[in-house]
Amino acid sequence: MNNRANRGAPADFVARHVRELPRSGIREFFDLVQGQPDVISLGVGEPDFVTPWHIREAAIYALERGRTSYTSNLGLLKLREAISRTVQRRFGVTYDPRREVLVTVGVSEALDLALRAVLNPGDEVLYHEPCYVSYSPSVALAHGVPVPVPCLAEDGFAVRAEAIAARLTPRSRVLVLNFPTNPTGGTMDRAGLEAVAELARRHQLLVITDEIYSELTFEGEHVSIAALPGMRERTIFLHGFSKAYAMTGFRIGYACGPVDLVEAMMKIHQYSMLCASITSQEAATEALLHGDPDIAAMRESYRLRRNFIVDAFNRMGLTCHRPRGAFYAFPSIRATGLDSKTFAVRLLREEKVACVPGDAFGPSGEGYLRCCFATAQDRLEEAVDRMARFVQRL
Ligand SMILES: Cc1ncc(COP(=O)(O)O)c(C=O)c1O
Repeated sequence: MNNRANRGAPADFVARHVRELPRSGIREFFDLVQGQPDVISLGVGEPDFVTPWHIREAAIYALERGRTSYTSNLGLLKLREAISRTVQRRFGVTYDPRREVLVTVGVSEALDLALRAVLNPGDEVLYHEPCYVSYSPSVALAHGVPVPVPCLAEDGFAVRAEAIAARLTPRSRVLVLNFPTNPTGGTMDRAGLEAVAELARRHQLLVITDEIYSELTFEGEHVSIAALPGMRERTIFLHGFSKAYAMTGFRIGYACGPVDLVEAMMKIHQYSMLCASITSQEAATEALLHGDPDIAAMRESYRLRRNFIVDAFNRMGLTCHRPRGAFYAFPSIRATGLDSKTFAVRLLREEKVACVPGDAFGPSGEGYLRCCFATAQDRLEEAVDRMARFVQRL
């Protein structure tokens, strides 16, 4: 026993790189929301739809048939085949379902596996910001160095190849992309992506593309960087079921990529996770086989709600670009003179509307607010009335 233990002081068991991780700004904010009655939450990034019935039924039927075992580490072959066909059909990229597709516990696990499989300590990972809260911590947990590349509202929150180029160093290894973007709803057109792809090829970067919102693109074609010339072999393509099929609780996603990269990810997955839940894999197979009409209906509903909330923000003087994808509005609150945390906390206290302060998505999110519009229309209308009242009082 060491001296500290002898003296009864608690030993410090937490690893340094974990202790240094900040808590998620979203979590911190939602601790405040807990227990407050009559709050309208535009905070959580989750569809307000229940998973379509035929998908839930497939899960129930699998249980009824006693399908309760482990599966292959890679996932059920019939699901991998359905993934391969869907990715080919929607994105124009071909992956071998036997060796180039790995079924994971959400995009969250897929991202973690991808980073752990490719990073050596000190490797730099570039990602556009404001971005999903997990990117920087996931890079740090994989012993990499996060390098944010700020995106601007005047570019529709697309990332400029020049901005990436300006942050390259000899340690740059990976570029993470997420279009449409959480939290901005930003998208990239083909020309912009081609410039980024050219940079990735020239500088030998591996690209990890998080396609989780791609089906929720309201205008323009969605292009995946994996489909551009020379990119398939240097891209890990991540996708999942949480957003497009309203299946967050099933915890199911997948990664596609060249054999050696999928094999490396599979090695970590087999020792840490073994496989994704078979019930969720059965449900996901049904989603891919028969879920296209569900996606179309939900997307249209989000599109109408987007139009409503973006117009409302602009009317109340909070400049808001019209997101072309995902289900988040990202209005600027700069005109109010408040910082994003103060704005969000006061809005919650004074009008009981919960939105996430933009700085939760990285320093370049300061001056903005993330408002998830996957919320019932009558709640959205009430939230917007309360926010207008709040802004007027400031
Ligand atoms: C950009 C992005 N990637 C990944 C995830 C996590 O997805 P999953 O539920 O598949 O783990 C989210 C969830 O909000 C997200 O917004």
